[in-house]
Amino acid sequence: IHDLGTANSRLAQFVKEIRDKEIQKDKMRFRRNIERIGEVLSYELSKTLSYDDEIVETPLGRKAMLLPNDKLVLCSILRAGLPLHQGVLNYFDDAENAFISAYRDHHDGEDAFEVIVKYLASPSLADKTLILCDPMLATGRTLENVLSAFKNHGKPKQIHIISVIGATEGIEHLINVFPETTHLWIAAIDPELDSRGYILPGIGDAGDLAFG
Ligand code: PRP
Repeated sequence: IHDLGTANSRLAQFVKEIRDKEIQKDKMRFRRNIERIGEVLSYELSKTLSYDDEIVETPLGRKAMLLPNDKLVLCSILRAGLPLHQGVLNYFDDAENAFISAYRDHHDGEDAFEVIVKYLASPSLADKTLILCDPMLATGRTLENVLSAFKNHGKPKQIHIISVIGATEGIEHLINVFPETTHLWIAAIDPELDSRGYILPGIGDAGDLAFG
């Protein structure tokens, strides 16, 4: 787990703005802040990828550099994952992309819910590095179901999850269900979930805040 929330950085301002109930009314700013958080977390994640020596030819000479060689697949979890995905794609612009749908199905207005996965479009993940983008990690059941849905798409070399706000309970759940090669990059960890599985104090419903 790479918890960047305590880092003393500009990231805190972006997180403050998506939490603030007045500032978050500006949907364009909300989406852009989620995207900016995706860019910052991608930079931190990039420091852990594999690198090869390469020679770059400039107009005036040659320079040895270490450059990333991982084959990346970015996967957005619809729909709140879209602005986060865009931020990560701004950074890893040559990655392949996958999209998966997941929603909570509440029976007859009850608090209990099932996570339903219906749509998945993805390239092969075999020997690639998968980066899953979902701004909210509440119970962790969405990510668990998403991972199961990828079973027939090849075994990735590594899995990274990029999230914005996570609840302690969901993070503990992920530690139990995800393999050791999985890394979580997160901007803030909150202590509680309410009876409906919403993060407290959290930000509210990220999908609604981004898209209405
Ligand atoms: C939210 C969020 C995550 C999920 C997290 O999606 O974007 O995907 O809930 O909850 P979990 O960790 O308890 O599974 P939501 O179902 O609200 O869909 P939306 O993005 O379409 O609004």
